[in-house]
Amino acid sequence: MRGDAGAGRLAGRLIGLGVTGSIAAYKSPDLVRRLQAEGADVQVCLTPSAARFVAPLALEALSRHPVEQDVLALLPDGRIGHIVLADAADAIVVAPATAHWLGAMANGLAGDTVTAAVLATSAPVVVAPAMDGEMYAHPATRANVSRLRDGFGYTIVEPEAGSLASGQSGVGRLADLGMIVDAVVAAIGNRPIRAPDPGSRPPVVETPRPADLEGRHIVVTAGGTAEPIDPVRYIGNRSTGRMGVAIAEAAFARGARVTLIAGLTSVPLPAYARVIRGESTAQMRAALLATLSGPSGMAGFDALVMAAAVADFRPTRPAESKLTRGGSLTLELEPTPDLLAEVGRVSRGLDSEGAATRRPLEPRPVLVGFAAETGSLARAAGKLHAKGLDLLVGNDVAEAGSGFGTDTNRVTLFAPDAEPEPWPLLSKRAVADRLLDRVAALLDERDAARQTALMTTEPADLREPTR
Ligand code: C5P
Repeated sequence: MRGDAGAGRLAGRLIGLGVTGSIAAYKSPDLVRRLQAEGADVQVCLTPSAARFVAPLALEALSRHPVEQDVLALLPDGRIGHIVLADAADAIVVAPATAHWLGAMANGLAGDTVTAAVLATSAPVVVAPAMDGEMYAHPATRANVSRLRDGFGYTIVEPEAGSLASGQSGVGRLADLGMIVDAVVAAIGNRPIRAPDPGSRPPVVETPRPADLEGRHIVVTAGGTAEPIDPVRYIGNRSTGRMGVAIAEAAFARGARVTLIAGLTSVPLPAYARVIRGESTAQMRAALLATLSGPSGMAGFDALVMAAAVADFRPTRPAESKLTRGGSLTLELEPTPDLLAEVGRVSRGLDSEGAATRRPLEPRPVLVGFAAETGSLARAAGKLHAKGLDLLVGNDVAEAGSGFGTDTNRVTLFAPDAEPEPWPLLSKRAVADRLLDRVAALLDERDAARQTALMTTEPADLREPTR
């Protein structure tokens, strides 16, 4: 059985699987796998009674999408789950479909996520009924099936004859799963993929990550900086620290030793990390530079993820005592030092003019920046090069569900000599884990290259000095 999405008759397709409350619901995990084996991405909707026959968790774990169960619940980013599925699915298959569900659907009663998604979709719909033989033969059921097939144009995969859950035999057993998959393939035909952009598809559940950062020291900055105007006032920004804390949390979960340099934050700071407060740009700079160099010129950390929203300007001369109310006030601002660019230079042994005047840090830390933009990420790639970064996460903070104070983020990853990679809307934790996948890979590459370099230089270095 193939599990990859690159091959198969449903490659790249999103299939909605509606499961309703027949005993045959126990077959639905197998149906998810079979659709996936054809390359499909599968999103499951369950009616409340189906959830008594099959565990939602099993379907979530298999499909890698949270299961849609509550017609009134919203997705974490505020979208309506069954409408997202209705709009994005290449087909919706309802298997098994109960007599009750057929009746509800025939009358457009959208009381559960399965009926609601089917009612709202313009994609092909495939229905595989399963129930007791007498129920299937009842004129009410026959009429509902006819309405779905002839009135709505749905494909009906007829149930089979055989022994039923009641112990009787009759026509009512869920059709063979292979036939249901074939019917989905046929119903879609050559239609183009409706929603190739993962961002317009239902949210994904991330896979748990291994402890691939064990032995690494990761420094994360989080929150916004506060640039003093006087002893009580400051210039700040809307950063809450949520993204940085999510990265710290993910890094810790993957085995890293974590230092969190926190500006102004409005989320709880973790107990598992060493937390250094650096509220102004100057304090954050001091904390970073103190952390950057370890003993005997070694790098003090393996990677820096600079998720903090550092001010670009600060009052040139903060007042020493509280400014009093009066007429208008003009503040003179000066540019702040670019902390990340400075860390980039120090790591490479460069001075502020870009001249190699000191030893580069060994091993060179992996540097990751964040670029918050409004409206376009056009400037992000330039920042990657200007600051000497290994990775830059660009995000449009003006977009709904993205940026400050939200639980989700839609970002684009920039890396040198690679096309920008737009990621779908993800939870901040999922963004953190995907980003750390890349950081872990870069650290492994760095170590492998260093090992090779050491092996090739060792003989000369180990030669006995001639007297
Ligand atoms: O240039 P811009 O502010 O968009 O760059 C964003 C990245 O640079 C972020 O990772 C931010 O933490 C960092 N930065 C910095 N020092 C500054 C301004 C931004 O390190 N003064």
